[in-house]
Amino acid sequence: MTAALLQDSHGRVMRDLRVSITDRCNFRCLYCLPETEEAANFYRTRHDALRNPQPVALTPIRYEWKPKAHLLSFEEIERLVRIAVGLGVEKIRVTGGEPLLRRDVPQLIAKLAAIPGVRDLAMTTNGFLFARHAEALRTAGLRRVSFSMDSLDPVNFRKMTGRDGLAEVLAGIAQAQALGFAPVKVNAVVIRGLNDHELVPLAAFARERELSLRFIEFMPLDSGHAWKRDLVVPGREILARLRESFELLPVDQSGNPAETARRWKFAGGRGEVGIIAPVTEPFCGHCNRLRVTADGKLRTCLFSVGEHDLKPLLRGGADDAAIAQRLGGLVADKEAGHRIGQPDFVQPARTMSCIGG
Ligand code: 5AD
Ligand code: SF4
Repeated sequence: MTAALLQDSHGRVMRDLRVSITDRCNFRCLYCLPETEEAANFYRTRHDALRNPQPVALTPIRYEWKPKAHLLSFEEIERLVRIAVGLGVEKIRVTGGEPLLRRDVPQLIAKLAAIPGVRDLAMTTNGFLFARHAEALRTAGLRRVSFSMDSLDPVNFRKMTGRDGLAEVLAGIAQAQALGFAPVKVNAVVIRGLNDHELVPLAAFARERELSLRFIEFMPLDSGHAWKRDLVVPGREILARLRESFELLPVDQSGNPAETARRWKFAGGRGEVGIIAPVTEPFCGHCNRLRVTADGKLRTCLFSVGEHDLKPLLRGGADDAAIAQRLGGLVADKEAGHRIGQPDFVQPARTMSCIGG
């Protein structure tokens, strides 16, 4: 058994590290990096301004990305991952922003794949640039990939992501499958009134293409602070609505309690759906995940209000033992769980584009 040195005060052992490698993105998902104030406030404007952009003046939002010098270099990321793996981490996920906006990502993948003890190396991408990098990523040692795709309807896709990119994402998914990435996952964030009418078509797509489709409850991590509870379609409701159209059989997950998705197979079919319900059915009690932002800050929870800068150690000549000790100390204080819905809940200042899924 691998070392279990990253244990928190609630008895949870960290096995999964998600590393964001850039805060930039080429998409403008309205729940993450909306293009305009109107998109950020989509629940108030009910999208009228987006549907008919002509007479309404849209107010663009300008983002300030982190300067390059603040981002961890590939060497720094490799070192950090190696130290974390020495402490018992087994799964590494490279995320963003959009990770493929960073140059030479296959070089990073090759470095991470070569670290003994990395049992699982995956990437989350919006898929727009995936097809053109797929082969190099595969050769470098990437084995699993998750795409973010919230809609199969080009018009709705554009409304949600701010870009006409559905065809490219579909090509990326097809390319991943052709190259033997397995499983190929697709994440769809479900927002009431925006894409919940696509639950069944998305699930049908998963069955037809033998994909793992993950429906994710909308979480209060949007930069527009537009999140409201009634925009969340509860996991239970997602399941009930899918069951009206499909016969679903539960997947045995007893061997992996840290899994966030409740998974279902199609009776007599291929592919599967999973439902991730962090809002209505929190799974914090089994959380084994840590996150590092692109600028080298450790987050012990998606909803952490504070983060811990590792750069001073990485750049200040600290040895591996000192960094390991710091990681251990920070993990010990990992929060018990998120407090969405509690009166004292504070939405973190950073969106998913900084934190990394
Ligand atoms: N709620 C739920 N999921 C989100 N993601 C980004 N922002 C949110 C949010 N506010 C998803 C992305 C991606 C994954 C990393 O997280 O769509 O699939
Ligand atoms: Fe980009 Fe992902 Fe955020 Fe969409 S959710 S804007 S694809 S980082």
